[in-house]
Amino acid sequence: MAVFHMNECIRKTKQHIPLTADEIAALVRGITKEPLIPDYQLSAWLMAVCLNGLTDAETAALTMSMRDSGQTMHWEMLDGPVADKHSTGGVGDKTTLILAPIAAACGVYMPKMSGRGLGHTGGTIDKLESIPGFSTALDPAAFLKQVQEIGFAVAMQTGDLAPADKKLYALRDVTETVDSIPLICASIMSKKLATGADHILLDVKVGSGAFMKNDADASELARLMLAAAKADGRDCTAVLTDMDRPLGMCIGNALEVREAIEVLRGDTDNDLGALCLTLAAELLQMAGRGDAAACRRMAEQAVSSGAALERLRRMIEAQGGDPRVTEDLSRLPQPLCSRTVKAPQSGWISAMYSEQIGRASVLLGAGRMTKSDPIDPAAGIVLSVKPGDAVQQGDPLMTLYAAKESQLDEAESKLGGAVVLAETQPAPQPLIHETYRTGATA
Ligand code: URA
Repeated sequence: MAVFHMNECIRKTKQHIPLTADEIAALVRGITKEPLIPDYQLSAWLMAVCLNGLTDAETAALTMSMRDSGQTMHWEMLDGPVADKHSTGGVGDKTTLILAPIAAACGVYMPKMSGRGLGHTGGTIDKLESIPGFSTALDPAAFLKQVQEIGFAVAMQTGDLAPADKKLYALRDVTETVDSIPLICASIMSKKLATGADHILLDVKVGSGAFMKNDADASELARLMLAAAKADGRDCTAVLTDMDRPLGMCIGNALEVREAIEVLRGDTDNDLGALCLTLAAELLQMAGRGDAAACRRMAEQAVSSGAALERLRRMIEAQGGDPRVTEDLSRLPQPLCSRTVKAPQSGWISAMYSEQIGRASVLLGAGRMTKSDPIDPAAGIVLSVKPGDAVQQGDPLMTLYAAKESQLDEAESKLGGAVVLAETQPAPQPLIHETYRTGATA
């Protein structure tokens, strides 16, 4: 193979000349293996990608090389379909906590590797760790045993899985190169493919609170992710879902666990319940559990019978958490102080800027400003209204929860203009914008 020169790769990408698969493989090797490519050269290349993009072939090669940069997982020992689900990141997004127990109750295995919150978006690991005693550090044997016995487990993604992504992501975070569609595709899909599930459901968030702000970008990301899955022989569906408003009413870790439990107790007549049942039916259909109508019924029954909640209870117990939270929500961490934000005038809620609301929840303590910041599990926001609702002046818009009054002050000042009031009722926004399946990709 020709001698590899990183500056040659930077020059080519800068001049829109595609890299070969061998060049990309060598570049990815140099991210984690000696001789290491210096951060300044990787950063220059990332910026060139961010500005000029990559071809589909380059994106696929980058994804596969990153997948192979560490351990890959295999699930032949499981005697049923194995599925995974990934959200591209949103505000109030607790779908994994609902979807995984439903899938498990319907005979679909879900070995789930998850991450912490990123910026204004929450992470499943932080949410689960708000349950007293809960641990997401499972060794491989305990992880497998739990998946075999309960149907699902949620563990913290280890450094062995796609380590090239870990390094690149840290660089992207500090070089303003996160918002590149080919880089996001390679980052997400390298980890999903390394996790080894046959069926991958992607929840591509689109709107003010998501990385993808419009449908065109979200569709392009979905197209690239489906192409990567297909090239690796996986069954993949991408659902574009609305993030122009937070999902559900709660934002913050224990608050979101509480809301997920409420849905699993049967409170599904809301946007969160509707989305979870739709995604669950899609996942069950992918896993061969029946046609669309049968899978929808199966998902609904898993909730109405209490079978899904029981799976969540067993999973919490198996991972060291207090399973009684599923019966008694007061066992979840409780905040020390609260404040209600009121409507300054009467009108219709016409928009809610979810990124701003997510950033306010970080200021309350529900997320991190820097990587080492501790999380306050009880902190967050509970919305009283959603777009389309009518309010009178002085009606509550939301309640903020934190440990200190000063955090409430800071978050409240950040929320100015986050809820937009209009004189007329806005047209309803669909929760699902589009669904793409691998079968339909070229
Ligand atoms: N989530 C990821 O894992 N990677 C990205 O690049 C963006 C969101």
